[in-house]
Amino acid sequence: MKASAIAHSNIAFIKYWGRSAEHPPLYNIPLNDTVSMTKLGLEDDVHLKTLTTIAFTDDQKTDMAYVNDEALTGRGMERVATIIDMLRESSGCELKFLMRSRNDFPTQAGMASSASGFAALARAAASALGLEMNAEDLSKIVRIGSGSAARSLHSGYVYFNRGTSHETSFAEQICDNDAFDIRAVIAVIDADRKKVTSDDGHASALTSPFNEARVMTSQKQAATIREAILERDFSSLGYIAEENCKYMHAVMMTSEPPLFYWQPDTLRVIKSVMRFREEGLECYFTIDAGPNVHCLCRPQDMEELNRLIRNLEGVKRTIQAKPGPGAYDTGQHLF
Ligand code: DP6
Repeated sequence: MKASAIAHSNIAFIKYWGRSAEHPPLYNIPLNDTVSMTKLGLEDDVHLKTLTTIAFTDDQKTDMAYVNDEALTGRGMERVATIIDMLRESSGCELKFLMRSRNDFPTQAGMASSASGFAALARAAASALGLEMNAEDLSKIVRIGSGSAARSLHSGYVYFNRGTSHETSFAEQICDNDAFDIRAVIAVIDADRKKVTSDDGHASALTSPFNEARVMTSQKQAATIREAILERDFSSLGYIAEENCKYMHAVMMTSEPPLFYWQPDTLRVIKSVMRFREEGLECYFTIDAGPNVHCLCRPQDMEELNRLIRNLEGVKRTIQAKPGPGAYDTGQHLF
């Protein structure tokens, strides 16, 4: 009972920040609908993916999980075990598991490594346990480990319905990766682990007086950006994504305790993107829970934008990306 899967990270255009207090916290039901693009890294050394192998065997006396050779403990292990327990229960399997996982990009640096990680884990575990589950059904379980990971099960552009219960809160595809080609140039400013996890941020979001306005606006923006994606309207997509990112960071900065994920160099990239746009290169920025900036552009502008961003002070490197595949099984095992 061993299987492996690959999943890619995603960038949120409409952000998940704050979980609903009306449902048990375990369920991770987001306050608003979210929209994302699953990413395929175009660099030789970075494809923005996680490869995960999991085996359920008699030989394992306790559940064990390793990410990049480091054993998971505490909350990290708890999140993995919660997902696996649900899948084990559905399959009737009582065996313990061994899991190994490898990211080809910085772990926990606001680059959604947990998104690809939990999506790959769930896909591999479902296969190892012989469960036939489609991406939508699997996304309900993955959401419990990581809300953003539920979106990485799908390829291309993804809509997460906040729903009103565990059963109705899931991710579905808007269109696949080949349907609409846009690009992201990711400015890596700091690849170290972030000090405040999204988990803590989801709790503190509710303390910001601006959060209610962000949630209301996000619901409208999610619907509009979905239309923009279906109409292949890059300008509307970029504009709405940038707006929504600013709302989330305004909430972060005004929460108790306040969260400042930006570094001075983050602001330098933001201002540069705005200047490049004024000068005629159409690009937009969006930032998750970290200092790194995703700069969105059309395919024909990627090379030029990459050159400009890479040369900015404080940018350690860039990672170019395009819409990527959903989680899939692979015969490439880590053990
Ligand atoms: C800012 O709870 O999904 O990236 O702690 O990494 O699992 P992890 O993140 P999650 O929150 C994601 C927060 C976000 C916005 C988003 O991706 O929607």
